[in-house]
Amino acid sequence: MKLRRSVLVFALGLTAVLVAQTAATGGTASSRHNSGQSPGAGAVPQDSLRALGSKVGIRIGTAVNTDVLAANAPYRQITADQFSSVTPENVMKWQVVEPTKGTYDWSAADQLLKFAKTNGQLVRGHTLVWQNQLPAWLTAGTYTSAQLRDLLRKHITDEVTHFRGHIWQWDVVNEAFNDDGTMRDTIWLRAMGPGYIADAFRWAHQADPKALLFYNDYNIEGLGAKSDAVYALAKQLRAQGVPINGIGAQGHLDTKYGFPNQMRQNLQRFADLGLKLALTEVDVRTTLPVTTPEKLAQNADYSQMLEACLLVRACISYTVWGFGDAFSWVPSVFKGEGAADIYDENLQPKASYFALQQTLMLASGAPHR
Ligand code: G3I
Repeated sequence: MKLRRSVLVFALGLTAVLVAQTAATGGTASSRHNSGQSPGAGAVPQDSLRALGSKVGIRIGTAVNTDVLAANAPYRQITADQFSSVTPENVMKWQVVEPTKGTYDWSAADQLLKFAKTNGQLVRGHTLVWQNQLPAWLTAGTYTSAQLRDLLRKHITDEVTHFRGHIWQWDVVNEAFNDDGTMRDTIWLRAMGPGYIADAFRWAHQADPKALLFYNDYNIEGLGAKSDAVYALAKQLRAQGVPINGIGAQGHLDTKYGFPNQMRQNLQRFADLGLKLALTEVDVRTTLPVTTPEKLAQNADYSQMLEACLLVRACISYTVWGFGDAFSWVPSVFKGEGAADIYDENLQPKASYFALQQTLMLASGAPHR
């Protein structure tokens, strides 16, 4: 852990140069597609992201689309080879786990936990409290505020209890703020007031005292109104003894907006509150078709987010929000944009993969290509 800080500070200036070189010359990603080795901790390629991450004390994770995981062998192999942490992209969300009131379906998430165990990976649970992807039966008009509070407590308690002992980090509350720093107007804020956040953390902690409990949001990577609001919340929760352990900065960037303002300093101020940090949903979208300058900007964004995390001792994981452009959420939400991931449509590694690989190599002082 100590090594990564000192070497990285020295190497920061080099990374951009190396990334540019890699983009120009290409590179190779290790894979065991033909090796027949069973993927497990210890059997991963030495130059995989997960192996390099372990040398510098950080887990490199990915969101997993469990439908693709079940159907696509190369996707499975990359997930196992390259990542030491997995996050279910959708299958722990309320809509999926309780489609009918009172009837749980944990099957898809249980499958992912089994895969993670086989492959020596930790699991980020995502997400307990959100205003999106709620089940169809859960609508504001149907229940009183008191009933909504009871439903939320039961949801958190039942889900965290089901997975107790198997979740490394839980995203307890997701996206509770607007970009201007005001609280987002959600079903939970309306029913319970701002105290719903503290309640959610307390209920989750009661159900699994050993899980690390995170607040997770986007556009809080750098200093700004939204991250100031999350900082104020975190400080207040810590002062009140609420069991919050970390802040997840999602890391959904777009090349047209530039890099977040003073990201390392921003992460450090949360660390100074005694919190852990995680980059939880990293991807870098761009306008299609991608031009060379945009590709270079993507590479730089990926590696600079990783550098910011590596430079803050309390930053424990860096998770990409899926790794293959063919399965990315981006094109369906941002029309005309995409190419946001580190593998292309054919699951071939892109320059942004090599940018991450080289950043990790530089951080560990290992020789680079
Ligand atoms: O499962 C249904 C399927 O039955 C149906 O046929 C199909 C028709 O469109 O929809 C399927 O559900 C989709 C679901 O993903 C599973 O694939 C939803 O329409 C679609 O909206 C949903 O998108 C997810 C999105 O969250 C919902 O807000 C994305 O996959 C997922 O990547 C995205 O992830 C979020 C994080 O949880 C929080 N942070 C932002 C991030 C990106 O939006």
